[in-house]
Amino acid sequence: MKIKNLIALFLILSLAFLSAGCGSTPAQAQATPTPTQAPTATPAASPTQAAAAEAPAEPAQENKILVVVFSCTGTTKGVGEKIAALTGAELVDLVPAQPYTAEDLNYNDRSTRATVEQNTPDARPEIAEDISLNGVTTLYLGYPIWWGQAPRIMSSFVESHDFTGITVVPFCTSGGSGAGRTGETLGEQAGTGTFLTSTRFSSGVSDSELQSWIDSHK
Ligand SMILES: Cc1cc2nc3c(=O)[nH]c(=O)nc-3n(C[C@H](O)[C@H](O)[C@H](O)COP(=O)(O)O)c2cc1C
Repeated sequence: MKIKNLIALFLILSLAFLSAGCGSTPAQAQATPTPTQAPTATPAASPTQAAAAEAPAEPAQENKILVVVFSCTGTTKGVGEKIAALTGAELVDLVPAQPYTAEDLNYNDRSTRATVEQNTPDARPEIAEDISLNGVTTLYLGYPIWWGQAPRIMSSFVESHDFTGITVVPFCTSGGSGAGRTGETLGEQAGTGTFLTSTRFSSGVSDSELQSWIDSHK
């Protein structure tokens, strides 16, 4: 054998020996933890957790104001719209699952729906769609006066929501009657939140009157 071939053979044998001496393949090295690797205390984040962690946080809206009105003939809604415009709040209608017809509202006939409900303290008319109070800190809650009280659907609303951390500012319209204790009664029925005394407004209430009222409970 020539000297060149001998050197080549020697090199090949040396390489084969060295690679056998390195031990595990890269795949084996990954699968077997070394004793210095501490066990992970928490499971690795799932893909959805990882995505949530990367997503930019939505800016938390502070002091969100909402106006909710129950209004069958538009008077209370008209006042609510002015409050919404003055406070920059969104206005949401409290819609009954079964709308009130003109006949339902005929208070000259004591057998009609609205009057029968007012004469039934535990009547709780169903609401068509849930109203979210997420992030709300001030809620203007408007309704008409029916037989000296808030309509029973207002009780349905307050009893089905959590007002924790919310200041509820009730207001109402009427043919002339005052708000009475309607705000306090709704607060008792809610059992959470801070309900202020209700204020009665006429349909033609001015912006300046509403603004001083808004400023008075800020
Ligand atoms: C069944 C019923 C009972 C009412 N009871 C009273 C009342 O006790 N005192 C009063 O001043 N107005 C009373 N009203 C008149 C409403 O309060 C008034 O028209 C109100 O502004 C209507 O508001 P809306 O248009 O937002 O529904 C009554 C109306 C209805 C339909």
